[in-house]
Amino acid sequence: MGADDAKKRAAFAALEYLQDVRIVGVGTGSTVNHFIDALKSIKARLDGAVSSSEASTARLKALGIPVLDLNAAGELPVYVDGADEANRRLQLIKGGGGALTREKIVAAVSKSFICIVDQTKLVEILGGFPLPVEVIPMARSYVARELVKLGGRPDWRQGYVTDNGNQILDVHGLRILDPPALEQEINQITGVVCVGIFARRAADLLLVGHEDRVEKIV
Ligand code: A5P
Repeated sequence: MGADDAKKRAAFAALEYLQDVRIVGVGTGSTVNHFIDALKSIKARLDGAVSSSEASTARLKALGIPVLDLNAAGELPVYVDGADEANRRLQLIKGGGGALTREKIVAAVSKSFICIVDQTKLVEILGGFPLPVEVIPMARSYVARELVKLGGRPDWRQGYVTDNGNQILDVHGLRILDPPALEQEINQITGVVCVGIFARRAADLLLVGHEDRVEKIV
């Protein structure tokens, strides 16, 4: 059994938390793609979904699930998304797929954030996965210099443009011992749109797919 089966197991386990939900927030990535497939079985009772990326929007629409504007939808009961790394305090690194800003917005307006991962994503200390930081293009070099001062090695994700028209720096070499503090510090660098640490608004429930079961961490 591979990581993809474990992702699928975690993704389908999230359905249990959607029993009275009419509008669901939907994240981005290969694990979420399994979740979108799972939504097919309950789409008749959904009014629609709020999507965090153009890629997820296309996949939802292909299944016939209406995609709603967040401004019209208001507060969401549940948001389901993957992560690149997660710790047992439900703090995350996200943005490997480049959708971190919209993901953080949808997480912010959701009452409950359910994170779905396979067991390979669970770590003791965040930072092994290069930390994505979305930047305004003209600020890229300045932000990179500031990130070096924080001990990181920023690498420009060349040729990649976010759904918001911005660029991404992937920051290597960080051992993130205090995720909320580093999230705040990087947020305050002028030119940063969003940092992929999700700690100030962490997940509420982590569903970890293992080979033979789904572990629930709250
Ligand atoms: C997208 O920008 C990311 O935050 C994803 O949630 C993350 O990369 C997880 O992706 P996979 O489910 O493909 O591992």
